[in-house]
Amino acid sequence: MSAAEQPAAVLEVREVTKRYGHGRRDTLRALDGVDLTLHRGEILALVGESGSGKSTLAKILAGSTSQTSGQVLCDGVEITARRHSTARRRIQMVFQDPYSSLNPRMTVRSALSEVLRVHRVVPREQIAEELSRLMSLVGLDDSALDAYPSQFSGGQRQRIAIARALAVRPDILIADEPVSALDVSVQATILDLFESLRSELGLSVLFIAHNLAVVQHLADRIAVMYLGRIAEVAQTDTLFASPEHPYTQALIASVPRMRPRDLEQPPALDGEPPSPIHLPTGCRFNPRCAYAQPTCLIDEPALERVAEGHSVACWFAGQLQQAPTKQSEEFA
Ligand SMILES: Nc1ncnc2c1ncn2[C@@H]1O[C@H](COP(=O)(O)OP(=O)(O)O)[C@@H](O)[C@H]1O
Ligand SMILES: [Mg+2]
Repeated sequence: MSAAEQPAAVLEVREVTKRYGHGRRDTLRALDGVDLTLHRGEILALVGESGSGKSTLAKILAGSTSQTSGQVLCDGVEITARRHSTARRRIQMVFQDPYSSLNPRMTVRSALSEVLRVHRVVPREQIAEELSRLMSLVGLDDSALDAYPSQFSGGQRQRIAIARALAVRPDILIADEPVSALDVSVQATILDLFESLRSELGLSVLFIAHNLAVVQHLADRIAVMYLGRIAEVAQTDTLFASPEHPYTQALIASVPRMRPRDLEQPPALDGEPPSPIHLPTGCRFNPRCAYAQPTCLIDEPALERVAEGHSVACWFAGQLQQAPTKQSEEFA
């Protein structure tokens, strides 16, 4: 792909860190040098275990907390505190718990009308029409407008929360585990909604999940996060067909129907991730890695490009994929 054909970056995260103080000396490194790019019009999934820093990154992108260091760029312009009000409207969040963005005492009509008025999205006389447009975008009838959040099912409530996010006409949605609290049967309908919003509105979506299976059919690309860093990023097909990072391989292997053919005996992922207060030296994945070598205990691997659109943070990227069991014997 030539430079001219590169998809445009709508959001860029560069070397972003976020530290939380924990007592006098201990610092919790929630994000520890994250690089990530969201392209215009794509659905990029961010996947990782609980505690890997996904929500922290989402909050930084949405402007509800600030990074300790590093940059966030929106259309190539750094988002600083001063510029945040404009960027904040362009970037809207959808949370796991829809109640967190809905006022339980207001009907959908009054809550959404207020948003439309405060942000002067449309002239007053067009508010009713705009409310209908929002309901139809999220697949609800106009009758939903006169109900309170508690009167909806979980899936419908998430649709209302999505309508609330769409009301200010953002072009970027950051969705933090928006289906994790829903019944499996309902999850698919909300995933379909994200897909239709992307195609109808041309939205760029960062879709956070703790489970690869959820995003397999939705995401164009997937970024795998481990303990505050990106371990691997690739096109969805590539990630499932040839995962390079042992962590990605283990995540895929944990879903039996997804196991690629050439990963017949993938190493299981044992134990819990280490605490982000006491990170291991070297590669942060080394305590759980079946292939760890002396190098991995000393130096941290950077996220390096292994192919077009495919980057991996592993000293042995490209060498573990073909026959992991044999490799691990050789390494032992
Ligand atoms: N406000 C906070 N103060 C202190 N530690 C925090 C705070 N928010 C998150 N953390 C810690 O940062 C790490 C990343 O958390 P989070 O971003 O919520 O991860 P995820 O969304 O992937 O589960 C965790 O170890 C968490 O305990
Ligand atoms: Mg989270």
